[in-house]
Amino acid sequence: MSEKADAKRTDLPTGGQLMVFDHPLIQHKITLMRSKDTPTKEFRELVSEVATLMGYEVTRDLPLTEVEVETPLKKARSYVIAGKKLALIPILRAGLGMVDGMLTLVPMARVGHIGIYRDPDTLEPVEYYLKLPEDAASRECIVLDPMLATGGSAAAAVSFLKQRGITMIKFMCLIAAPEGVRRLHETHPDVPIFCAALDEGLNEHAYILPGLGDAGDRLFGTK
Ligand code: PRP
Ligand code: URA
Repeated sequence: MSEKADAKRTDLPTGGQLMVFDHPLIQHKITLMRSKDTPTKEFRELVSEVATLMGYEVTRDLPLTEVEVETPLKKARSYVIAGKKLALIPILRAGLGMVDGMLTLVPMARVGHIGIYRDPDTLEPVEYYLKLPEDAASRECIVLDPMLATGGSAAAAVSFLKQRGITMIKFMCLIAAPEGVRRLHETHPDVPIFCAALDEGLNEHAYILPGLGDAGDRLFGTK
């Protein structure tokens, strides 16, 4: 076997936690997503599939509680997820593409939405929508967005959640730029970042290189 097939955990000097998933299936699907020849339908399916594969590890530390269950043969002690469980918070638009893949794993998760877009001139995030589950503050919240570029949108989304009393937050993306990882870690060192690929950097328009282009446009076929 030529490549290590587990998630790599990287503790950066910023004190934040970064997990890069280098599982072969994830890498294969990311390569297909990067290709400019991959059509919208296939791209959308791939985003969802990678979210499911990553979600398995992202949810690894969910707390369990012991319960009694009766099998056809006898009573047994076994485990179920404890407490209020999860909320998934996609950043609109592109984060929507990851929701179904995560719900495949955790169908009972609640879903909140944060609308943020990058101002094309300043590249700074602008919030335009926020709707969270009522009990979001007692849930672990996983923020979903395929792209972590400058980190502005992710940092702003996490700030909005914290302002509303949410403390257990993870950030899950497909492609991250080092600049975005640095900014999110500097702003929110307590928020672990999970990604499928850590790319080279940003171009002059703050697009990730090599990246996959504009995730929202590729998901929804808007360009
Ligand atoms: C994209 C992407 C992230 C953001 C990342 O969204 O989905 O939300 O850019 O860039 P940043 O790390 O520099 O903030 P975009 O603003 O293009 O909006 P869209 O999803 O509606 O297309
Ligand atoms: N948003 C995207 O969709 N792609 C990038 O490369 C950067 C930000």
